[in-house]
Amino acid sequence: MKRIAVLTSGGDSPGMNPAIRSITRAGLHKGLEIFGVRNGYQGLLDDEVIPLNSNIVSGRIRDAGTFLQTSRCAEFMKEAGQIRALEVLKKHRIDGLIVIGGDGSLNGARALHRLGLSVIGLPGTIDNDLYGTDMGIGVDTALNTIISLVDMIRATAASHRRCFVVEVMGRGSGYLALMTTITTGSQVAVIPEFRMNIDHITQVLQRRFTSNHNNSVIIVAEGVCQGSDFMKRLLDTGKVEQEIRLTVLGHVQRGASPTHYDRLLASRMGEMAVLSLTSGEKGSMVATVNGRLQLRDFDDILDRRKALPGDAIRLARNIGIELGDVVES
Ligand code: ADP
Ligand code: F6P
Repeated sequence: MKRIAVLTSGGDSPGMNPAIRSITRAGLHKGLEIFGVRNGYQGLLDDEVIPLNSNIVSGRIRDAGTFLQTSRCAEFMKEAGQIRALEVLKKHRIDGLIVIGGDGSLNGARALHRLGLSVIGLPGTIDNDLYGTDMGIGVDTALNTIISLVDMIRATAASHRRCFVVEVMGRGSGYLALMTTITTGSQVAVIPEFRMNIDHITQVLQRRFTSNHNNSVIIVAEGVCQGSDFMKRLLDTGKVEQEIRLTVLGHVQRGASPTHYDRLLASRMGEMAVLSLTSGEKGSMVATVNGRLQLRDFDDILDRRKALPGDAIRLARNIGIELGDVVES
């Protein structure tokens, strides 16, 4: 293993830059040549391969996003695209690839692995929906951003005795919504893992409206529906007297400077990816399990649905958060 490339793919997450920095520095320390592929798999097809050095990654530990840039690439979904990607890597005599991204990106990484390339993946997604790792790179930062924004909403909600519906990210997972509800003192989490009980929700709102707790916040995961659709459904019951306002947090959730947790996680995972490749490991993702890093085979983790942590669900219920009904599996 002499020449390693790194790319970021799918939705950006805060911590991708620290991971690239760590990969570059750890790789150089090992005597390797390190390359960056700009613009994800699309950049690989377009031959956007650049050499990385210590200066290029200097200071990047503080920046959200990914300076290598990222993309979604339909052409790479097909085998012909993947074979072309391998040809580009071969042209640059690159023998190992590190892919930082979410579930889709790591499926792409597995496709390259199956075609014979040495590939290691890092979980880069704020959704925390990747099976096999307790946390993804960027989750902690996104949650810190979301809770500071919801805290601000709480101030105006309390001042006006209003209910706020806040839509947060999470394409197929309620992780961000559940953790936000718990840590902001919000009353209701509407998440894909549970079937919302609209009667219970209106009861919670009415009870609070007619008591001293006359403001409420409902956190809706985008994976269930748009916040506006949820609001309509709530209003259509005709049972809510209170004024309701909607806030869609959107892409600011991905934009904060990485937290200590994410800088460290990304740095550790980046280093481990390099050490794994140089010791002959391939076809796996670096995961964090109970605080320790480990490699998990792509085949053991991809295509599996990650469950929400049971203790968080229990905690939410025990402190009075309305979650809805358990969806039968
Ligand atoms: P994320 O990695 O954040 O989940 P996407 O699901 O959009 O984001 O995937 C990012 C890119 O990864 C896709 O645009 C595509 O190029 C590639 N990809 C996704 N799924 C596959 C797959 N099954 N096989 C090959 N490549 C894939
Ligand atoms: O996968 C991460 C994520 O943030 C999802 O929660 C969201 O649905 C998606 O990316 C949105 O990405 P974009 O708007 O950049 O395509």
